[in-house]
Amino acid sequence: MEEIREEKVLYSAVQPSGSLTIGNYIGAIRNWVELQSRFTCFYAIADMHAITVRQEPALLRRRTLELAALYIACGVDPEKCTLYVQSNVPAHAELAWVLNTVTYVGEMERMTQFKDKSAKHAENVNMGLMDYPVLMAADILLYQAHLVPVGIDQRQHLEITRDIAIRFNNRYGETFRVPEAYILKEGAKITSLQDPLHKMSKSDENPNASVYLSDDKDTIMRKFKRAVTDSDNRIVASEEKPGVTNLLNIYASFKGCSVPEAEKTFEGKGYGDFKLAVGETVADALAPIQAEQKRLLADKGYLAGVLKKGAETASYTARKTLSKVFRKVGFYRGD
Ligand code: TYM
Repeated sequence: MEEIREEKVLYSAVQPSGSLTIGNYIGAIRNWVELQSRFTCFYAIADMHAITVRQEPALLRRRTLELAALYIACGVDPEKCTLYVQSNVPAHAELAWVLNTVTYVGEMERMTQFKDKSAKHAENVNMGLMDYPVLMAADILLYQAHLVPVGIDQRQHLEITRDIAIRFNNRYGETFRVPEAYILKEGAKITSLQDPLHKMSKSDENPNASVYLSDDKDTIMRKFKRAVTDSDNRIVASEEKPGVTNLLNIYASFKGCSVPEAEKTFEGKGYGDFKLAVGETVADALAPIQAEQKRLLADKGYLAGVLKKGAETASYTARKTLSKVFRKVGFYRGD
């Protein structure tokens, strides 16, 4: 088994729980690509997290593979990082169990995402939904990650991960590295096109609210045309103009420029032209990703090989941490 590069470790994951939005891309996956040459990166497909809300089994399996293809199509290079499916590495569930014993019910009940999802899925407030942050802590801590690149909505989960790591270390002796969230200012929160005060989400019921990475050009153009803005016609980013600010963020992210540069591009232009330009930019950027994803999905053997190798590499690192944990908590290991 090849040894992992000895440098800073980065960990992140996305759930295969629906079609990914441009928020997932801008807030997470796009940054992973840039970081993969600088760090030892583990990028997972969090299927165990996904089943905390009800999933159609065949669809979950398909989406898992689609997400693997999407990572690669976006530029995640399986030669440079470890790409794998969370449920293929049993150490995640094993560590989560141990971490459960240093996590309090009260703190889980107070998590924002738990409260939101319990309200949304009132008929299915299961233990997994409540335990979601502990499994996420297990993901990160198994790899002794230094940094976790995520969007701003995951900040609270990173804070609880740090608390759990510190608590375990205090109780059992130094075991886990205490990780830091790596949240880029621009694009950390892409908001809904229909309600720019709320985040763009995979599971939004309004089809015009989110732009999916799988949307075709017509759909993308239509959604941007209908995007909510405001009644003054200035294209500048400011707190009072959340819709325009969001569109500027999206444009700047896909163009690879800064928001002030984007503002300059649209100086003196009207909202109509602006929205068209944002739509065109997004559609043009997504077209090659979509084509590459399609090409990769036609080669299931290649994807299976990547994920198998990824799971082996991940297991090797994860087992090292897990053995340490089992020893520290006093599990009998036969020696
Ligand atoms: P998930 O699948 O909900 O989201 C994946 C990533 O996309 C980011 N994101 C956004 N960023 C900017 N604007 C948005 N509108 C937006 N929507 C989503 C999220 O912040 C996230 O980075 N719990 C995680 C998955 C996970 C994980 C982990 C992440 C499981 N284990 C370990 C990091 C480390 C999640 O909900 O992802």
